[in-house]
Amino acid sequence: MKDGDTPANSMDVCTALATRRSVRDFRPDRVPEALIDDILSDALNAPSWGNVQPYRVAVASGDVAKAISADYMHHFTEGGRFQKASAMGKLKMWLSGFRGPDGDHTTIMTYPDELNERYRETGKGIYGVLGIGREDKAARVRQMARNFEFFGAPTALFIFASEELGAYGPLDAGAFIQSIALAAHARGLGTCAQAALATWASPVRSRFEVPSGYKLICGMALGYASDAPINSFAPVRRTAENVKLSLKS
Ligand SMILES: Cc1cc2nc3c(=O)[nH]c(=O)nc-3n(C[C@H](O)[C@H](O)[C@H](O)COP(=O)(O)O)c2cc1C
Repeated sequence: MKDGDTPANSMDVCTALATRRSVRDFRPDRVPEALIDDILSDALNAPSWGNVQPYRVAVASGDVAKAISADYMHHFTEGGRFQKASAMGKLKMWLSGFRGPDGDHTTIMTYPDELNERYRETGKGIYGVLGIGREDKAARVRQMARNFEFFGAPTALFIFASEELGAYGPLDAGAFIQSIALAAHARGLGTCAQAALATWASPVRSRFEVPSGYKLICGMALGYASDAPINSFAPVRRTAENVKLSLKS
């Protein structure tokens, strides 16, 4: 640590791993730029293939974050309108320039049964804490839209991973993302990794210089957690026994 750096909290790694949870409701208080840099510097200790650190991060706060959020909201609303439109309505939207998600990766996918069970359980848990019923589509859409307001966080990070290393660019970016989450947590901040923000890339690409070969893999809300009940939601984890493969007999 250099003189003048913000001292990191003394939380040990196991405690940080056990107590970090995604934050989905933030206070508006801005995060000082120096603190964001400290968190990123901590996270840059993450291991990566050949230490190439194949990621870049766009840091959006203040007016830039607001403008990016407005663009996402526009895309999200238009996407919803397209889904609901008749065939003729869809054609009209298409002819007037609507093109759907322009993300670098697809974020809309069908989960295999084995994974879908946990995905659904987690969704059910989140909506349960929020008091949103299964049939309340409007409230579900509103909650989905909160992603595009970064859940009220004053800062959003956008992580780009190199596509030149096959799976290892996104893999290394994942280690970086988890390290950001833990470093932020240890320093008293909250995060929520948000693949939803990778559904569209243009809101970020239009504002930041992204080197060629880098693809938007994930966004991340960063800020101070509010005391809303949703921030206490802790989805159940698999056990070590569950993830260990059996030996072939
Ligand atoms: C790659 C990735 C993408 C995610 N995307 C979203 C998202 O778009 N919106 C959201 O609310 N949570 C998102 N999450 C958070 C997960 O839902 C959360 O990590 C998971 O349910 C485990 O809960 P925990 O982080 O509180 O331990 C994402 C997490 C990861 C790692």
